[in-house]
Amino acid sequence: MEAVAQEIAERVRAAASVRIVTHIDTDGITGGAIASEALARAGISHEVAFVKKLDETVLTELKRAGTPLVWFIDLGAGMLHALHGLDAVVTDHHVPTERAVPKALRGDLIRFAESQDRVLMLNPHLEGEGSDVASGAGCAYAVAKALDGRNADLAAIAIVGAVGDVQDQEFRRLSGYNRGILADGVAAGVVKAEIDLRLFGRETRPAYKMLQYATDPWIPRLSGNEEACVAFLLELGVDLKVEDHWRSWSDLDRGEKQRVVSALVSHMLERGCGAKEAERLVGETYTLIREPAGSPTRDAKEFGTLMNACGRYDQPEVGYRVCRGDRDEALAQALRLLRGHREYLMDSMEAIAEAGINELDAIQYFHAADKIRDTVVGIAASMALQRNGTSKDLPIIAFATAEDGIKVSARTTRDLVARGLDLAAIMQEASKAVGGYGGGHHAAAGATIPPGTEQRFLEIANRMVREQLARPTSSDGTSVEHPEGTFP
Ligand code: C5P
Ligand code: ZN
Repeated sequence: MEAVAQEIAERVRAAASVRIVTHIDTDGITGGAIASEALARAGISHEVAFVKKLDETVLTELKRAGTPLVWFIDLGAGMLHALHGLDAVVTDHHVPTERAVPKALRGDLIRFAESQDRVLMLNPHLEGEGSDVASGAGCAYAVAKALDGRNADLAAIAIVGAVGDVQDQEFRRLSGYNRGILADGVAAGVVKAEIDLRLFGRETRPAYKMLQYATDPWIPRLSGNEEACVAFLLELGVDLKVEDHWRSWSDLDRGEKQRVVSALVSHMLERGCGAKEAERLVGETYTLIREPAGSPTRDAKEFGTLMNACGRYDQPEVGYRVCRGDRDEALAQALRLLRGHREYLMDSMEAIAEAGINELDAIQYFHAADKIRDTVVGIAASMALQRNGTSKDLPIIAFATAEDGIKVSARTTRDLVARGLDLAAIMQEASKAVGGYGGGHHAAAGATIPPGTEQRFLEIANRMVREQLARPTSSDGTSVEHPEGTFP
């Protein structure tokens, strides 16, 4: 990847100006900020544009505008076939389109694409790796570092991108190329990695709130129960407050943390959780050590969530400005968006309760219509699935109205994935059958389908789930997204 990064860096250096086109999610926003910062430092003139997705409309406009060089971040791999006539570099971690890349040419794609389309791509899939070894931000970072070794300080933002894209979730630590980025960040003195409780809100939430909002893992009797969390900490002799200040997890000293973690593990095991579940309490956490203690930009997971909120409510520029260093107006606005997001999720849960969750024999589903926006319906589905009272034995499928059709989000538990369920395959095939498209991960996948095809889609998905679970297989448990520490 570093060799490709060098080639891309040369192309970028030679360009009269660069148009960065990036995705509106966390690793797109952070990736755009990294690219822009690196270009600014190198004195290369550029502009940044955020898109929800890369489609023909966007490409036609780019071709018409005739930019000397386009730098696609966190997108592009799926549209290689449509990039003819553009001078472009791509730093993406999504699966390159089958159509674009004849199997025989896969290994040699870079050269193939370059000669055909003047397109150069950096993508872990070209190295035989998966999407989770680097985020869109990490891929952009590789080029930033190739442009100038001193850009290693941007590793901090690349880690935010990776964590915001939940790349640390499956193994409770970052892996692959991400580990090189982490090492750069540590060496540059901008990031610290340590084994700690991996719940959301280590810096900004009162410690008891952090426990109360725990969803991965779910802690029996404590998750969702404020009083129980307060009592739990008090019994361990942990002071909840110092004067008027509610102590956050990061305020606790080493001894206190150790007491709480061992008590949590015993608590979970005594209440029937498996060792695998209890293990999920602890993992590698990432701290941006140049950010002020207790601030929302210090913990990579919290920073990532903030970026996600900006993207989901169509304000990626706000997140981008925070990444570029704005800790005033942009940060305040990002925090407002995050608060708004939490309220929106509460309302979404009510909307789901009103609409009701329907069951077929192998799946459960709800149709949110225009009550939940398409960028949030996936999280709403995760939350609905985790809720008390929702069946954990059936994957959940959610529909919402989107600009370009009906947005579908599907989520399931690690257990069902281990028993052979692959929602990515189901979303892909069922959507294709009704004239749409989709994909994703085993436990979290999505699709867009034409309005009116929902019923047919459900029938196909239901049949496929039944078939997959009837087969004796085992698979890895790609995890669902972090529901951002919020549930009703
Ligand atoms: O949108 P949602 O959160 O439900 O997406 C879950 C996963 O499914 C994501 O990894 C996304 O990239 C993938 N997806 C896809 N095709 C779609 C929609 C989502 O591959 N049309
Ligand atoms: Zn991404």
